[in-house]
Amino acid sequence: MTPGSERPAASRLMVAGNWKMNTTVEEGVALARAVATTVSTAARVDVAVLPPFTHLWAVHAALQGSDVRLGAQDVYWKDSGAFTGEISAAMLAGWCDLTLVGHSERRHIFGERDDEVGRKFVASLAHGLGVILAVGETSDERDEGNTFDVVDRQLDAVFAELAGPPAVDAWVIAYEPVWAIGTGRTATPEQAQEVVAHIKQHVRSRFPDGSPRVLYGGSVTAANAASLFAQADIDGALVGGVSLRAEEFGVIVAAAEAAAGSRGAA
Ligand code: PGA
Repeated sequence: MTPGSERPAASRLMVAGNWKMNTTVEEGVALARAVATTVSTAARVDVAVLPPFTHLWAVHAALQGSDVRLGAQDVYWKDSGAFTGEISAAMLAGWCDLTLVGHSERRHIFGERDDEVGRKFVASLAHGLGVILAVGETSDERDEGNTFDVVDRQLDAVFAELAGPPAVDAWVIAYEPVWAIGTGRTATPEQAQEVVAHIKQHVRSRFPDGSPRVLYGGSVTAANAASLFAQADIDGALVGGVSLRAEEFGVIVAAAEAAAGSRGAA
């Protein structure tokens, strides 16, 4: 058992790269190939890339033969129909591995509500896709002392859409404080650990038989990744800006590999 946790820390970490609205298709394919080469020796880390929708099919082809997983940055909850501009889980099923739902840019720039995030989560699982659920507080919410309440509310809205517990391996939570995303202002390892441990506890209170891995996201870099992964409950990272640079992204994956090795040996 790890101090501060009621269950052993996950010995398999995850590092996912959220490319956001960056790269052309050609650049994305080249980046995916470079990532696959750079991380090819990581045996104890699940590595994923999340390119824009336009790139997914080409990146899927480029990743054939590698262990790098492919994810979409968003998804719509209906399977098909008159929903101009949307992409459904049914369209991704069978060749994409996962989706990201609830990213703070979706919530705050595009006005996604907690219950909509829940429907996207359910649709992903229903189509056999893995899902990364992002939660996190704004700086005002933190300053007002509401961090735990905010992440609990975001999680509970998703749980309200579920008929039963999702398979533990099918989902991952990413704790991403909004004030740390793209700002260069990373949460300290202690701040991140505190909220990640709280999230695990909250999930266990709802699903006692298994809680998923919880990642940290928000200005993760090659320089700070190891100190985040050294925390008892942080099971990896959701990386934005740095995921566009294969070499530096590879250093983060290597830090996760080293942390997984020491957890496995503990
Ligand atoms: P960042 O983004 O690493 O650029 O801060 C993280 C994210 O938005 O997932």
